Amino acid sequence: MRNTSVEIAGVKFKNPVMTASGTFGSGMEYSDFVDLNKLGAVVTKGVANVPWEGNPVPRVTEVYGGMLNAIGLQNPGVEVFAERDLRFLDKYDTRVIVNVCGKSVEDYLEVVERLGDEKRVDMLEINVSCPNVKEGAIAFGQNKDALFDITKRIKEKAKQPIIMKLSPNVTSISEMAKAAEAAGADAISLINTITGMKIDIHKRKFALANKTGGLSGPAIKPVAVRMVYEAAHAVNIPIIGMGGIANGSDAIEFIMAGATAVAVGAMNFHDPYATEKVVEEIESYMERYDVSDINSLRGIVE
Ligand SMILES: Cc1cc2nc3c(=O)[nH]c(=O)nc-3n(C[C@H](O)[C@H](O)[C@H](O)COP(=O)(O)O)c2cc1C
Repeated sequence: MRNTSVEIAGVKFKNPVMTASGTFGSGMEYSDFVDLNKLGAVVTKGVANVPWEGNPVPRVTEVYGGMLNAIGLQNPGVEVFAERDLRFLDKYDTRVIVNVCGKSVEDYLEVVERLGDEKRVDMLEINVSCPNVKEGAIAFGQNKDALFDITKRIKEKAKQPIIMKLSPNVTSISEMAKAAEAAGADAISLINTITGMKIDIHKRKFALANKTGGLSGPAIKPVAVRMVYEAAHAVNIPIIGMGGIANGSDAIEFIMAGATAVAVGAMNFHDPYATEKVVEEIESYMERYDVSDINSLRGIVE
């Protein structure tokens, strides 16, 4: 029997494959394609204290090797989320990680407190790295003192372990990872999208109403692997790696760079079966190279 299970902050996952926030809803829309029971965890779309409308359209566009999005964290607010999405997830045997967003520290704290007694929530992923909202959010993820402060305040209130989701739009990912760890984060996840821009030369206009958007998909994978590697050498807390994962080989690459778990994002739009396929392809890799424990591959490249 090969071991695919991994542990993060005392929470055990049946395998290292998760959904990347914002690309899988809360699993409802994908449950006709993917057996959610086969995933390590469902990571939900970002949830705020109150409903957010998101940015004006157009807010997604395709580019070579991926996509740009400027959704702006549209969400129904934590009350609707708890009553509707968490109750939907009750019937599945998979871990649930709720992604939390906010415009001020108080916004984040409100969501964290509201979810504190929700037994269905195994961990919280704190999004301080969305490039598409003007207030708050990214500001916390681009300054190490602000990141330290918000991490510390959330850790004091949170009943579940917290994962700080880091931005690639920084000079030193190691410094940011260290700040999150020093403030008490239980884990970090990276990378969020890389800020990009596309211009429609026929309309002589920006392709997105927001002008800029976050780049995701296979195009960003080498950047993400490099950042996971750097972060893994900077901190001792577990890392959830993501950015352009399209198949099992990509997932193994992140694990070898130092990730404990991985998340599949933009690829879900291209192939709704992607997450389950990644689980199967990791198992095939382990079979092929006679790997008895997935954990033995972590950070194997020095
Ligand atoms: C349409 C879309 C929506 C996203 N929404 C969120 C979100 O709500 N919260 C968050 O932390 N990250 C969000 N992300 C970022 C992804 O979770 C992920 O970090 C990023 O896309 C890189 O992974 P990928 O290349 O596999 O997509 C979103 C990405 C996309 C493409």
